[in-house]
Amino acid sequence: MGEMKTIVISLGGSVLVPSLESNNIAAYAEMLVRLAERFRVFIVVGGGGEARRYIAAARSLTIDEATSDEIGILVTRLNAAMLIAALGRAAYPAVPASHYEALEAATAGRIVVMGGVTPGQTTDAVSAVLAERAGADLLINATSVDGIYSADPRKFSGAQKLDRLSPEELLAIVQGGRMDAGANNVIDLVAAKIVQRNTIPLLVIDGKHPETIAAALLDGVFAGTLVSRTPEPVLPLE
Ligand code: UTP
Repeated sequence: MGEMKTIVISLGGSVLVPSLESNNIAAYAEMLVRLAERFRVFIVVGGGGEARRYIAAARSLTIDEATSDEIGILVTRLNAAMLIAALGRAAYPAVPASHYEALEAATAGRIVVMGGVTPGQTTDAVSAVLAERAGADLLINATSVDGIYSADPRKFSGAQKLDRLSPEELLAIVQGGRMDAGANNVIDLVAAKIVQRNTIPLLVIDGKHPETIAAALLDGVFAGTLVSRTPEPVLPLE
């Protein structure tokens, strides 16, 4: 058997913790434990609705954007700590505060779960950089939409879902999005640029049901958007 492939999953807070009371943490933990038998797994958890509520409250105190970002980062780390708790022994027990710490944690051979690291970006960017640093074979963005559209589907009824696109096409779509604290784009600009500068394929997939991710990875069955430089099939990841 060859070496285990490495995957980095950007797990949107809106997917994992739509709200604290109705969260997907247990279902995700169960699926991730299974994935970790086959792959080296890194998870970057987003802030979701709770982060946006904190950021809105911070703004109303006339706090600057970067400080609001820091508050958002703390919420992503809180969500990461919740997922780590649910994963139990399958996860490295602490939330790495940098990519370096995440790589160090990975040497323990367990699932590594982190949140944000620095203002001015989102956890999408964190996950894209982590994918580069970990030499990942695939980056997955598990989000609350079912893929990348030619335009924002909430604003343009004619927007079309794209099954497959190149990193350059992704960048063209993402440019023009907003980037203030709590901004909600399908993927952030920094992440799109990083995807464009390396050869790691990106799968953008609806993360509402964790099984969707397992089916994509293990069976190659998926309905999201695949961003890759070459037309070769990426999934299933063997
Ligand atoms: P998220 O990555 O969750 O952004 O970070 P999001 O767009 O809300 O994603 P979903 O909805 O969870 O999928 C939440 C906020 O935390 C700050 C930003 O303000 C971001 O909007 N943040 C996060 C940073 O400033 N730096 C980071 O590295 C990560």
